[in-house]
Amino acid sequence: MKYAKVRKEDGEKIRRKLGEAGKIAKGYPIISEAGFVFLPVIETKGLKYTIVEKAASSVEKPTLASLLKSKLTPRQLELLPGGFDSIGTIAILELPEELSAKGKHIAEAILKLHRNIKTVVAKASEHTGQFRLQMYKHLAGKKTKETIHRENGIMLKLDIEKVYFSPRSGTERQRIASQVKPNEDVLVMFAGCGPFTCVIAKNAKPRLVVGIELNPEAHKYSVINKNINHLENVTLYGGDVKKVLPRLGKRFDRILMPLPKTGANFLEVALKSAKKGAVIHLYDFQKEEDFPEATIEKIKKSCKKFKVLAAVLCGSYSPGVSRVCVDFKVG
Ligand SMILES: C[S@@+](CC[C@H](N)C(=O)[O-])C[C@H]1O[C@@H](n2cnc3c(N)ncnc32)[C@H](O)[C@@H]1O
Repeated sequence: MKYAKVRKEDGEKIRRKLGEAGKIAKGYPIISEAGFVFLPVIETKGLKYTIVEKAASSVEKPTLASLLKSKLTPRQLELLPGGFDSIGTIAILELPEELSAKGKHIAEAILKLHRNIKTVVAKASEHTGQFRLQMYKHLAGKKTKETIHRENGIMLKLDIEKVYFSPRSGTERQRIASQVKPNEDVLVMFAGCGPFTCVIAKNAKPRLVVGIELNPEAHKYSVINKNINHLENVTLYGGDVKKVLPRLGKRFDRILMPLPKTGANFLEVALKSAKKGAVIHLYDFQKEEDFPEATIEKIKKSCKKFKVLAAVLCGSYSPGVSRVCVDFKVG
């Protein structure tokens, strides 16, 4: 490999200059020896530095495929996932059937490549039941399913098996928080471990954010998350929205309904707690070709007078079916 030999004190300046000119050979080490720095160069023409030949092999960053070359067949290497979701320090893999026996090797390679990941699990079920929970199989690293996730300026502590949480919805949470006006009273139905309540309370200036959650574990984490984020204007209730909400006797400026599968069944109870002119965010699963009409039809069944403010696609549920949100103004 050809190297430009420069004095150590000029090394950084010349490295930058050669880099800007596109003359540095990427993937090769910069060598420091006895008061000199040796910069790997792709061509020497026009360079006024001393050029020396040095034995050096490329130090290309390892990839998942390069780390697994000896453990997987070429066909299996092709099937490696291009990425993974992470919740806090836990990486969540979705492995095709052909790779399930290689899960441990893949997980160990991920731990080597990503210093921030301490645990690797594989999805072992779909989201099921009233609490929308998902099971995971531990593959490598620290044996825990509890972690602290960071997004939109907040921390969220949760157990990925005891609580529903999707790291992919961070942008959607930001979209909603950015609409909250100062001094609004906001209701988050189906609050989970508190991602919407915390993101709104932290990033907007509501008077009050109320969260209601049925799953006792999720409610427990929601309270922890209110506390670790030092949020004072958040009030949380454990229990069924249909029972808790009428007992509060309170009306809200904004109501979030993040329960896409069956959320529309709660529209009537939501409307009874909505101030005149309140904004409701109804989440739904919809086939792309039926969006947004089919979700708007669901709203019409419970609400006589409303104005659609926005209809957005905010995630994918299954092939051809999206997670969607319709924002509408009541009355
Ligand atoms: C899709 S998850 C959303 C959780 C959270 N808002 C989030 O975005 O991560 C729906 C949540 O609604 C809760 N849930 C279901 N039925 C409920 C009800 N009748 N009353 C209150 N919460 C309910 C579930 O336990 C679950 O945590």
